[in-house]
Amino acid sequence: IYLEGLISNRSPTFTTSTGSVLESAAREKLSPEAYAYVAGSASSESTSHNNRAALDSWQIVPRMLGGVDVAEFDGSTTLFGGKKYQTPIIVSPIGVQSQLNTDEADLATARAAAELEVPFCLSSAGDRTIEQVSEQVDFTNPVGDEEGGSEAWFQLYWPSDDKLAESIVKRAKAAGYTALVVTLDTWILGWRPRDLDQAYNPFLRGQGLAQLLSDPYFIATYCPDGKLPSKEHDNDAFLQVCATAVSLLNPGISRSWSELRTLRELWGEDRPLLLKGIQSPLDAQRGLEEGVDGIVVSNHGGRQVDGAVGALQALPTIAAMCRQRGKTCIFDSGVRTGADVFKALALGAHAVGIGRPWAWGLALEGQEGVSKVLKGILADFELCAALAGCKSAGEIGRHMLVKRGENL
Ligand code: FNR
Repeated sequence: IYLEGLISNRSPTFTTSTGSVLESAAREKLSPEAYAYVAGSASSESTSHNNRAALDSWQIVPRMLGGVDVAEFDGSTTLFGGKKYQTPIIVSPIGVQSQLNTDEADLATARAAAELEVPFCLSSAGDRTIEQVSEQVDFTNPVGDEEGGSEAWFQLYWPSDDKLAESIVKRAKAAGYTALVVTLDTWILGWRPRDLDQAYNPFLRGQGLAQLLSDPYFIATYCPDGKLPSKEHDNDAFLQVCATAVSLLNPGISRSWSELRTLRELWGEDRPLLLKGIQSPLDAQRGLEEGVDGIVVSNHGGRQVDGAVGALQALPTIAAMCRQRGKTCIFDSGVRTGADVFKALALGAHAVGIGRPWAWGLALEGQEGVSKVLKGILADFELCAALAGCKSAGEIGRHMLVKRGENL
């Protein structure tokens, strides 16, 4: 199904869904700053290498003559203890999408995801507001419905001002977002040499701040005379407000585990709350004890702690902890191909987040580009799983993998 669309509307940059081809094509289109911002990771960038090394350290053992019909392959998954999703992927949150696509930014990505019934996770560092993005999504028709449907999740950078946190979480709830993803690994930006070399910080130019700059509480409390200064008429005052916004998003102190209860009260019991950026099983355990509905095992694509563990190495233990308690486990960081999705599912993830690949697609062809990348990864995944002998995503398991170098 996915291939049909790709072949009928083929463009040379999409001959493969691997990061390298897409990335080099996107690089030619982007400004050096924007390219560096998206491609870059922390310091020596060893963590993003470790992400790939961890994925490559597992190998799939295909089975034959199992009566598999690839046209009938069921790639659906169940999240949050009973909700069916048609595909096992989600669109991981990426901030400052106006660097990649000035005209539409997050709106293009949200539409591409909605069309494929893939959950779109809007970033706290988005370039379109919670309300603008929600208009692209038909929340009345939930994902997994027979008719098909779409939904969006909201990713929270937990502001240091409690009232601001409250205002933003309530806006996301009121706009219909179905899950809250609280990212814990980025309470201050990591050391990113590619950006530092170019003295580039999009936030200080006023990008990536749509959520705060549209927030009634933020404007009333932090803007002079309770009004957002106009960029055109008073750029200095505008940039001053942006710097304030950045400082609220980068509080420099981490919140405490027990405060998760406050977020839960604001968000409500009826909608899932997940923690993103968890790598230690001890943190996963603590989060689950605090009553979260799921864990996103992720190291932010290697952008925060240099010299850290490959994210996939953290997955098996945390996925087992989640499954034992009936909670959801999602994995991202380093996923580029269908085989990568397969491996993460085999090691226990219920769903897999796609990050940089769709960002390159957005840079190349806007909504259509995001759609092609997601369809490519889904087609690659379905063929990979079917050729490996699986009729459904649910049949993929640890028994289908061996560690590199081990004999069967
Ligand atoms: C991110 N990521 C991210 N995560 C988050 O929770 N909020 C955010 O605003 C952003 N912004 C962001 C910007 C850019 C340019 C990148 C590359 C990443 C992290 C993202 O959700 C995901 O964890 C990583 O992208 C996964 O790594 P790979 O697969 O892209 O290497």
